[in-house]
Amino acid sequence: MKKKIPFFDYTYNYKKNSKKLKKIFHNVCSKGAYILQNELKIFEDQIKRYTRSKYVIGVANATDAMQMFLMASNLKKNSEIIISSHTMVATASAIYFSGHIPVPVDFGEDLLIDADSIEKSITSKTSAILITHLNGRTCDMDKIKKICKKHKLELFEDAAQALGSKFKGRFAGTFGKASTISLYPAKILGCFGDGGLILCNDKNLFTRLKKIRSHGINEKNFNIDHWGFNSRLDNLQAAFLSYFFKNHNKNIYKRRYLAKLYNQELQGIKQIKLPPSPSEGKNFDIYQNYEIDCLNRDGLRNYLNKKKIGTLIQWNGISTNNLNLPGIKKFSLVSDKKFKRLLLLPMNVSLSKSDIKTICVEIKKFYKF
Ligand SMILES: Cc1ncc(COP(=O)(O)O)c(C=O)c1O
Repeated sequence: MKKKIPFFDYTYNYKKNSKKLKKIFHNVCSKGAYILQNELKIFEDQIKRYTRSKYVIGVANATDAMQMFLMASNLKKNSEIIISSHTMVATASAIYFSGHIPVPVDFGEDLLIDADSIEKSITSKTSAILITHLNGRTCDMDKIKKICKKHKLELFEDAAQALGSKFKGRFAGTFGKASTISLYPAKILGCFGDGGLILCNDKNLFTRLKKIRSHGINEKNFNIDHWGFNSRLDNLQAAFLSYFFKNHNKNIYKRRYLAKLYNQELQGIKQIKLPPSPSEGKNFDIYQNYEIDCLNRDGLRNYLNKKKIGTLIQWNGISTNNLNLPGIKKFSLVSDKKFKRLLLLPMNVSLSKSDIKTICVEIKKFYKF
């Protein structure tokens, strides 16, 4: 019988590390250290050192993170915030719930927010751009920073998919006023449930966000002088994440290796446009996802499914621009057409070279290549 290749194996991390994880569980639980404890501080400090961000705050998930940093940033009420149409609903909902208007714009050939489209969408109500470093690739920060400077806009980053990704040697999530990283199980650094991080370089914003994540409470004197959320990264999850983080660079290199294999095996198929190959040029990609642009996407997906190969259509194929929800400022976007062609192939460290070859053989058969 043919081996099944799931899109993502949610049991892999636990099975591979169960002995060590049980020890961590015992260590944390026997101390009764669950909320805002030492393990969380240790993990935050690890990410701080790694990304060279001044401040890191562990929170319940990346969606809360974005809502909190937008709420804490003193933007003009009801302002417009520009996002890519190729991002998760979370980017838009954080804007909506923080009292602003998400404005989705086109994305380019690299599937990242398009600089020209940003410029065209700026109005007197625009206060900020919230870019998404999609699939583990950092946006062109030279262009985006220039636009922000020219139009006096704040810059925020949705780096949910991009821990470790770099542009000209600088980490995604460290360019703007604040950013988020998601620690959702399928992310490159994932925990056993929901989790997220806020990165920022501004001390005042950091102080405010530390309160906001925990009911508005000042952790030093327990005074409450701010409305807040209950959105803290669990101490137990932080302890697991610290352990997984030891392999973070190794995992990035494995993903880059798998991406290179895909690109080598699939090059020349004219029905497919591949993601950029791993390079050490301007972009250092971490391949959170490997997303192809292909003809007869649904046919390919069904075919692979029959061959027991899992795939995924990001956001269920619906751009933020086409969400049937109130409060979004919508334009007719050229790149929306692309949503019928985008497909995620399996990409994670549980895959072997032979898995990638099997997947590519089937893709070649489908396209008669
Ligand atoms: C681009 C992007 N933004 C935001 C999120 C939301 O992250 P979380 O699930 O941690 O709230 C995700 C998670 O999948 C994402 O991929």
